[in-house]
Amino acid sequence: MGTTFTLPKFKQCEENKTTSENKINMTEEDDTAAMNFKIITKNLDLFYGDFQALYDISMDIRPNKVTALIGPSGCGKSTFLRTLNRMNDLIASVHLNGNVYYDQTDIYKNYDVIELRKRIGMVFQKPNPFPMTVFDNVAYGPRVHGIKKKNQLHDIVEKSIKKAALWDEVADRLHEPALGLSGGQQQRLCIARVLAVEPDVILMDEPTSALDPISTARIEDLIEELKQNYTIIIVTHNMQQAGRISDFTGFFLNGKLIEMGKAKDIFFNPADKRTEDYICGRFG
Ligand SMILES: Nc1ncnc2c1ncn2[C@@H]1O[C@H](COP(=O)(O)OP(=O)(O)OP(=O)(O)O)[C@@H](O)[C@H]1O
Ligand SMILES: [Mg+2]
Repeated sequence: MGTTFTLPKFKQCEENKTTSENKINMTEEDDTAAMNFKIITKNLDLFYGDFQALYDISMDIRPNKVTALIGPSGCGKSTFLRTLNRMNDLIASVHLNGNVYYDQTDIYKNYDVIELRKRIGMVFQKPNPFPMTVFDNVAYGPRVHGIKKKNQLHDIVEKSIKKAALWDEVADRLHEPALGLSGGQQQRLCIARVLAVEPDVILMDEPTSALDPISTARIEDLIEELKQNYTIIIVTHNMQQAGRISDFTGFFLNGKLIEMGKAKDIFFNPADKRTEDYICGRFG
């Protein structure tokens, strides 16, 4: 964890608590890293049929950082997240304008979608293990990608479950149904499943909203660990969580990116009144 500081008390922000929970990640950033964005979206509009869900979103995502997306329900966070690995392709009514670059390549032009989703994995709000064993869940992706040797699969499964901080709890249950695990264990299993295909970026859509505080803390610790090797973009409704784990934060409202910046700037010194209102819990 980087140094943490207590969330600010905005003048108008009556309910700001200053508990130990109320911390914000203050890791100092090296701006030269800005030259090397992992993902860039440019003037992205997205429509579900006639309904426009995203307006002109231009965002730069830095490698090996945690970027949190915040904003009230229905403002387009999940829609935006799904544009980053083309999950919206699965919805027939969707069309979009603008560009999404991953490592400088436009993913909507001549990009192999299977390869893209291997590179940019996704973890959903509700843990969604497949109805198969713990082992087979994690081995699923590698098998799809052609890995068949038992030893190799076993190594990948063990390594991935260890990285997901789940090994101690499931080492002797690998051949039992994944659906028998607790919710928090299932979510870490889903993270292990993503890690098993060696992604580069991990998208997480409210990964802890269904979990108790202990499981949530475990996933937050895990995210902090994983950013050494991965770029993480997380949607969360939990302001404390966004403050604790994110290096950068983007605030969405009504399909627009209102403000994006270092987490400490967004939380301490937002440029837009609407950001401050949201952080203070005045709406949404
Ligand atoms: N498959 C879909 N078809 C049509 N409209 C959709 C679809 N998915 C989302 N929308 C609409 O797009 C808008 C943005 O939805 P989205 O799910 O991205 O919001 P969100 O910020 O993730 O909300 P929440 O915090 O509740 O998860 C909403 O108005 C929603 O009703
Ligand atoms: Mg959502």
